[in-house]
This record gives sequence, C-alpha cells and structure tokens, in this order.
Amino acid sequence: MDYKHIPVLYNEVLSGLNIKENGIYFDGTLGGGGHSEGILKHLTNGLLIATDKDMTAIKNAQEKLSKYGERVKLIHDDFKNIISYLDDLDIKHLDGILLDLGVSSHQIDNANRGFSYTKDAPLDMRMDYFQTLSAFDVVNTYGQKQLEHIILEYGEERYAKYIARKICAAREVAPIKTTLELVSLIISCYPSKERYIGAGLAKRTFQAIRIEVNDELRGLGEFIEKAALRLNKGGRMCVITFHSLEDRLVKRAFKYLETDCICDKKMPVCTCDKRKEVKIITKKPILGSKEIEINKRAESAKLRIIERL
Ligand SMILES: C[S@@+](CC[C@H](N)C(=O)[O-])C[C@H]1O[C@@H](n2cnc3c(N)ncnc32)[C@H](O)[C@@H]1O
Repeated sequence: MDYKHIPVLYNEVLSGLNIKENGIYFDGTLGGGGHSEGILKHLTNGLLIATDKDMTAIKNAQEKLSKYGERVKLIHDDFKNIISYLDDLDIKHLDGILLDLGVSSHQIDNANRGFSYTKDAPLDMRMDYFQTLSAFDVVNTYGQKQLEHIILEYGEERYAKYIARKICAAREVAPIKTTLELVSLIISCYPSKERYIGAGLAKRTFQAIRIEVNDELRGLGEFIEKAALRLNKGGRMCVITFHSLEDRLVKRAFKYLETDCICDKKMPVCTCDKRKEVKIITKKPILGSKEIEINKRAESAKLRIIERL
C-alpha cells in the first residue's frame, strides 16, 4: 500500500521554521515525509534528523528521501527520546523542531492497523507495531473505572460511563475483537434519536483508546520545554495539534517557556532563576481550516510557533 499523506499547513510550517540552508533540523513526526522533504529542499549543507514510532513510515522515507543522502538521518523511536540521540551525535543545538502530532492518513486508511472506526479490522491502533499494548488489551483488560476515565479524559466523551459499562458487560460474554464490534457497542450507548449518525459516534472513544495505546500525551509538555532549550538563538519550534487536549499542553508549555520569573507574586524580589526563554510567534494558532477542500485532516489542525531568544 502506497504511503499517502498530505502534509497539513505545509507552507505555514516551512516559513514558520525560518529554514537556514546549513541548519540542523528535527522532525519528530516523520509520517509520509512531506514536511521533512520540504525542509530538506531548503538545506544545501544542513542536516535533518527525523523520528517516527512507526517502522512503516521509516521504511517509506528511507526510499523517498534517499536522494538527500547524508543530509537526512532517520530514527525509529519516540520523539521524546531524541535528546539522548542528540547527545550521542554530539549535537548541542538545533535550528528548528517540528511536531505534527497524531496519526497519519496512511495509518488511518490502512484498515489492518485498526485506527479507523469505519473499517472492520482487529482492534490494534499501535503506531509502533513492535510494542505489546494494543487497543485489544485496553478494551478487554482495563477495569471499568479506568476505561471510563480514559474515554472521558482523552475522548471528552459525555457517554463515557455507559460505554465503559457496556464494554465490560460485553467482554464477559466474549472478548471484543474488532473495530466494528466496538463501534456498534458505542452506538448502542447513545440515545436512540442520535444513533442515525452511525460510526461517527465512535470518533471520541477511538481517539481516547488510541491516545492510551500510544501514550500520546504523557511527557509531551515536558518534552517541548526541554527540546526548546536545545534550539539555537533564533531557532523555531512548530507544533501542529489536532485536538484540544494536545493543544492545551502545547499552549501551556509555550507559555511556561515565555514566562520570566515564576516567584510568588507577593515576593518583593525575584528569587527564582526562571527566565524568558522564547518568544511566542503565534499569539493565536494558525488554523488548517482553509485547506479542508483538499485535505479533510486539516479541519481541526492548529499550528503554534515559538522562537528561541
Ligand atoms: C500527522 S503524521 C505526520 C505527517 C508528516 N508531517 C508528513 O508530512 O507526512 C504523525 C506521525 O507521527 C508519528 N508519531 C506520533 N507520535 C509520535 C511520537 N511520540 N514519536 C514518534 N513518532 C510519532 C505517527 O506514527 C505518524 O506517522
């Protein structure tokens, strides 16, 4: 299956990164390599390091980006582990960092991966198919309270309680094995007048389970705070999010980096060593909504950018 993914906010990301032709860049979410290739086209003597948890993305990019030779380095790992790779490579500073969070169209469109609530497949949802925890394990082994918490917190699903209860009752009879089995359970938890919407009602629960399986939110804010400090002066970080939970973490991390002094307001003098580290370039996020006609995924995309001081 071809790796199909249209990069969201492509021009905005490339101009937001302010690319220097001999700079060192990091794309934490390689995916189909669209943004990565855009960066590489601007580099004459620089380096792009890119990570992805999904080996399919790495394999695809090994071929797609091979013409850039030594200018590109691909790593199969979570982007949250990049700092130790930078240390190993003796790279102290970067000129730009990109995170285009979430899943790629390729992952969703490939039914076997189990990300889609419109295609029947085994419950999987692992970005990294070498990890053991899958959606099957979450759905069939987590306790009812834990499931409810995940569906409520990560999916912001108002029927979380009923859905968790229904899942637990159903799996008493037989394990829930497929995406569409789960979808029909979810639909049955909605009031009958809403059920005509169909599979779309499963969107929030699927998002929640996917976030849990891939541990998408834990450490994201901390990573942004740490990685931003590895930027050269004038270096930029661009982060694209697709739902409010991610966006909130990014916004909070950017705000913290921009804060000068974290002392209690009542203190007469500053005693902390927290200084303003970055300037926020996007006071309001740049929205992907105008791309919707060519790229449905852009609908909920938000791009935020900071620059290292
Ligand atoms: C939205 S796609 C990126 C698309 C890419 N910008 C392009 O132009 O094709 C997100 C990709 O990031 C990967 N990913 C998500 N979270 C990750 C993480 N914590 N570490 C590494 N890769 C991650 C996913 O596997 C997926 O391939």
